[in-house]
Amino acid sequence: MKSLAGKVAVVTGGGGGLGRAMGERFAAEGMKVVLADVQAPLLQATVEECRAKGLEISGHVTDVTNQESVDALRDFTLSTYGAVHVLCNNAGIGAGAEGRMWEHELNDWKWAIAVNVMGVIHGINSFVPAMLAHGEEAHIVNTSSGNGGVSPLSGTPQYAATKAAVVTASECLYAQLQEVESSIGVSVLFPGPNMLRTGLFESWRSRTDEFAKQRPRKTPYTTVEQLEMQMKAAGHAIAYTAVEEVAEMVVDGILRNQFWMMPNSERGDNSMRLRYESMKSRSNPTYLRQVPG
Ligand SMILES: NC(=O)c1ccc[n+]([C@@H]2O[C@H](COP(=O)([O-])OP(=O)(O)OC[C@H]3O[C@@H](n4cnc5c(N)ncnc54)[C@H](O)[C@@H]3O)[C@@H](O)[C@H]2O)c1
Repeated sequence: MKSLAGKVAVVTGGGGGLGRAMGERFAAEGMKVVLADVQAPLLQATVEECRAKGLEISGHVTDVTNQESVDALRDFTLSTYGAVHVLCNNAGIGAGAEGRMWEHELNDWKWAIAVNVMGVIHGINSFVPAMLAHGEEAHIVNTSSGNGGVSPLSGTPQYAATKAAVVTASECLYAQLQEVESSIGVSVLFPGPNMLRTGLFESWRSRTDEFAKQRPRKTPYTTVEQLEMQMKAAGHAIAYTAVEEVAEMVVDGILRNQFWMMPNSERGDNSMRLRYESMKSRSNPTYLRQVPG
């Protein structure tokens, strides 16, 4: 897109964390923004705070695991602002499964797939036809992760597998929108280069009854503090990337029509190279890490 001012953006998972930061950044560019989130009180508080800052931001409670709910988000946006130009399929969760992969609850898998993969698909199904219909420049940003999107951390198979799916779906969407000569750009976003200190470690807050846990947890959920300790024990330095920095990369990437919204990172490049070399030489994977760093 050549400019953002006066255009309309929708951000899922916009109640907090990176989604909120992207929404605020879009509004600062002069866009009209709809933040969507399944956590109603969080969303309401965020929208009130943003409006108090003078930003043109609305909220719409949405469950991205449900196509009708995402259709209702689109209809709300169209009836409020008349069009949609930017869609960030950003809602995501870490299911926080316990034990080894073969011990994970099926509902942990189903929840991770429903939010991280189907949430993106529902966004595409609802919004692409509306974008094609108005024919103006538009852009879709799908949030993946270096974990899965670049190479998997062995400790979080559900997260890594679903974030890998986001990359492939985004590549296919990009190609198909090119094939029909649309004016809709597509990006896949890898927030980073370091972890973001967001609500992701408290994803259980957004877990709906449909995907409720099937058995009581044996251990408490891993907190960000525990992860920091694991990283320290594995000899990794702990550093965070600010959500505002990622939001800046997103705005810049939309204006430059950049597919790979990936921060410059030697560590990230190294992960890509090791995985590619393993595939190319048909050698077994030896590059997987358990924790970030
Ligand atoms: N935090 C990181 O280090 C990191 C790194 C790479 C990628 N990501 C990705 O960035 C995105 C944003 O995550 P974040 O770090 O800001 O975490 P976050 O938990 O602060 O934000 C995610 C938001 O998604 C919402 N959400 C969850 N399920 C939903 C549903 N069914 N429908 C609608 N909204 C739902 C949550 O309520 C929450 O507000 C996610 O896709 C995440 O996987 C995060």
